[in-house]
Amino acid sequence: VRELRVPANGLVLLVGVSGSGKSTFAATHFAPSQVVSSDAYRAIVSGDANDQSATADAFELLHHVVDVRLRRGLLTVVDATNVQSSARASLVKVAKANHVLVDAIVLDVPESVAVERNRARTDREHGAHVVARQRGDLRRSLRSIRKEGVRRVHVLTPEDVAGAVVVPERP
Ligand code: GTP
Ligand code: MG
Repeated sequence: VRELRVPANGLVLLVGVSGSGKSTFAATHFAPSQVVSSDAYRAIVSGDANDQSATADAFELLHHVVDVRLRRGLLTVVDATNVQSSARASLVKVAKANHVLVDAIVLDVPESVAVERNRARTDREHGAHVVARQRGDLRRSLRSIRKEGVRRVHVLTPEDVAGAVVVPERP
């Protein structure tokens, strides 16, 4: 069993390409109310969780909810790809403004595995090129994320996922 210690009143960033298993991991290890997902906010502002034109409005709401939850001392998990340093930076900024810690859980899944999983999905329409671009972003992220104000970076391969348990701890 691999224990992933995360801040009980802080922020957890899930990081991984589409198909890496972020939403599945979130549903397995966290309560629904603890998980703030970009898909959910895209759906709220557009009626369609896949509507990329809704991204800016969705993230405006997502950031606001993260801000309010952290201010209220609630463990908050962001279920979005978070493969771009700019996406992580804006969330780290919200955590810092609330004086709470940020940990990342990276789902480091081979591109071929993610593409294969996505092929079987009915809730995703994007092709392999999207995952390829995200995989490039993730590769760069694995080099830089430890210098971005994230306290712990838990990197999980597909083999690690089944044996992982999340342990919220008070700082
Ligand atoms: P996006 O929301 O598109 O960014 O993807 P995601 O990272 O949230 O992936 P999601 O959790 O939706 O999983 C994608 C597909 O892979 C789903 O069909 C899941 O059932 C499957 N899946 C997720 N985690 C695992 C896993 O650990 N093992 C296996 N075999 N399949 C998984
Ligand atoms: Mg998802």
